[in-house]
Amino acid sequence: YDADVPQSNTADPTSFASISARERWPIILTGAIDDVHKAVSNEENPERASEGKKIVQNLATLKHELQHNRQLTPLIDDGSPDIASYNIELSQRNNPSWFSIPWLYAECYLYRRIATLFATSTHWTRHDVFAKQKLSTFRSSRPAVLELATRYDELIAGLQAKMQGVSEAGKRAAEEVLFREMCEICLWGNATDLSLLTNLSYDDIQALQGAESRKKNESKILANDFPAAFDVLWRAQISNPKGDRRVDIVLDNAGFELFVDLVLAGYLLESGLATQIVLHPKNIPWFVSDVVPKDFSELLTALVNAKQFYETPSADEEASNTNPTALSADEEKSLKSLFEHWSTLYAEGKIIMRANPFWTEGGSFWRMPKTAPELFEDLKESELVIFKGDLNYRKLTADGMWDPATAFSKAIGPLGPESGLRVLTLRTCKADVVVGLPAGKDEELRAMEGGGGDSGARKWAWSGKWAVVSFCDGALR
Ligand code: F6P
Ligand code: MG
Repeated sequence: YDADVPQSNTADPTSFASISARERWPIILTGAIDDVHKAVSNEENPERASEGKKIVQNLATLKHELQHNRQLTPLIDDGSPDIASYNIELSQRNNPSWFSIPWLYAECYLYRRIATLFATSTHWTRHDVFAKQKLSTFRSSRPAVLELATRYDELIAGLQAKMQGVSEAGKRAAEEVLFREMCEICLWGNATDLSLLTNLSYDDIQALQGAESRKKNESKILANDFPAAFDVLWRAQISNPKGDRRVDIVLDNAGFELFVDLVLAGYLLESGLATQIVLHPKNIPWFVSDVVPKDFSELLTALVNAKQFYETPSADEEASNTNPTALSADEEKSLKSLFEHWSTLYAEGKIIMRANPFWTEGGSFWRMPKTAPELFEDLKESELVIFKGDLNYRKLTADGMWDPATAFSKAIGPLGPESGLRVLTLRTCKADVVVGLPAGKDEELRAMEGGGGDSGARKWAWSGKWAVVSFCDGALR
């Protein structure tokens, strides 16, 4: 039940896999070591401090093994059933070393191994080495958060009432434009570069025309299946207006990206395109910034305590003796009203969180029907399953070295046609794998400045500047 194409491998010198293993992971591990080291130095409980020091040592050992290209060692048993499958796969792969191993498995192993160090401790089981970073990145996205909060109030809240009296065709046209806008905000919220958001203006959306920046960035969306995805939600709404219609979002990153995912969730509920949103977070700290359930409550807490959140100087600001700008009363009010709106939707069960250990296993989503049959069955209940971000896309496509002109429906294997699932992926490209492109497009992009040229590397696909929005309707109903 794995794809039979070779996977992106850290041994390939032209791949982003290779750069990740040699350059990025050591930096990530150094950050994790610093985080625990700092926590230990502030620790008054000697037992907790000494256990923390051991974790620091174990993280340093892991970094040493990685940098010296040692073999991956079996994971220690932390009581979770997924450990066995990680270890079986490791031995089936003949205990490879770090610089000659499929990228996807190795990167999942890395985060899973970090998690075992905390899970097997007595005092550090709840510690998230990436928590501080996630929150501070959210804090620095303040302008876009404030802009979207205001826009949300004006555009989305009470949308169905605003649409009263509009003809069905008019309603469909308006909702489709908003759907695209919300999805595009949600898509680019995954990119490292968030400049698009600050350029979007309310007037442009209100006029139901794309903002210039969105138009410009639309050409950066290399496969664009928004119309087909909207169509299934619209049809479901028309054919079953009073029934339950659920949309699932397989989350990616915390902070700003989670904020925009909630904007999309709120839009789908307010427009009536969905009646319930199921969010899928991770169970353990994952790929630095992925959402764990606590990030959701921390986001809401930040909104309700916005003044304190935004006006307390960060460590950097303290060091440079600067103070953050105060929030205006209106800004504070719009963040509070978002908090109230989203907490109500959550309290009413219209937005729910459903964690599953499958999301942090070491294999691709091709395995879902076999290794997580209950999750697979559950997702079939959904009108649309939206997979956010790069890693989810890599897992959907098995991180395979596909020809970029391969159909998306083929590259997702058992989640494709007749699977019973409707899959939509919103992905900014930050890795080597890409499918669903017109023939010749990859070559064209490689030929652009910084695109990789004839180096053999698909560099254009590493930066998050390009995106793919791909849809596959595998529903059986
Ligand atoms: O490209 C670097 C990388 O860390 C990949 O390893 C991973 O697929 C991705 O970025 C994570 O990005 P995202 O948060 O969009 O899944
Ligand atoms: Mg992520």
